[in-house]
Amino acid sequence: MPPGNMNLTSDSGDATFPTLVEITDEELEEIGMVLGLRRHFDLSVYKAKCMKRRVAIRMRSTRCLDASAYCSLLQRNDRELDLLQKTLTIHVSQFFRNPSMFEKLRTDVIPGLFMARERETGFPLRFWCLGCAGGEEPYSLAILLREHFSGNLRRTRTVIVGTDIDPETLQGARQGEYNEDRLRDVPMEIRERYFQHQGTRFVLAPDIREMVTFLQGDITDVGGYLASDLVSCRNTLIYFNRHDQEKILHGIADCLPAGGILVLGKSESLVGSVRPRFTPVCPVERIYRRI
Ligand SMILES: C[S@@+](CC[C@H](N)C(=O)[O-])C[C@H]1O[C@@H](n2cnc3c(N)ncnc32)[C@H](O)[C@@H]1O
Repeated sequence: MPPGNMNLTSDSGDATFPTLVEITDEELEEIGMVLGLRRHFDLSVYKAKCMKRRVAIRMRSTRCLDASAYCSLLQRNDRELDLLQKTLTIHVSQFFRNPSMFEKLRTDVIPGLFMARERETGFPLRFWCLGCAGGEEPYSLAILLREHFSGNLRRTRTVIVGTDIDPETLQGARQGEYNEDRLRDVPMEIRERYFQHQGTRFVLAPDIREMVTFLQGDITDVGGYLASDLVSCRNTLIYFNRHDQEKILHGIADCLPAGGILVLGKSESLVGSVRPRFTPVCPVERIYRRI
């Protein structure tokens, strides 16, 4: 069966196509051109090795033997373009992912942010999750604030924004319904207080959903960054090449005031010329303060 007529599935492996093909730089560039032309998606900002592997996964799923067969499939099949884009932008997330980081924010960071803001009345306190996937991270912040800072929330207008490049993932985030695996790190009493169990799904309480605004945005578009007091950019930067990591981190530094907070993922760090713009608050939890 020619690839264009195939049933396109998400990656499942296949006994007849057990191994992933090797993709050359030129082939990746060719696929990048299709994505750029048809989706305005810039593949070149991501780490090539990671992207090659992810493209190869889609090639195996669609039984394309080489990159040119896969490119011609992409040219005529919008659904495969969607699936490829989804595979390239990894959407794994969880509520309270790395719980110790949220605990550190609760004890050492958020009290100071509210205290400073309460001295200068009139300005909202702004939290921004860049690469927010299905909303688990900004909603975790909302729950944390509701649980431990309800008095501050009454006194200080607080804004939480989640942005991501993927519109379908953002749509899911707005709905606020999750499978149980996303709630693995959520203590039972928090689950019971903020989620309603409906069949196999956990539905987030409307008053938490209302605390977060979701917007579509490309992280490489540093000119469109939102002025913020705390930026969480966790487990997203890692997929970008070093040059673009540095550009993104400078963009974040520019949108934070002196004293503003940056949170990175456990395997991410400040790179190159960005380092002197931040001082560590907790290096273990990858929490930094803008100088
Ligand atoms: C692995 S998730 C991280 C989710 C969350 N921050 C966490 O730590 O659990 C990475 C997210 O980055 C998003 N992403 C990838 N490339 C992006 C880009 N160019 N602009 C904005 N978001 C992007 C993906 O769509 C995905 O939802």
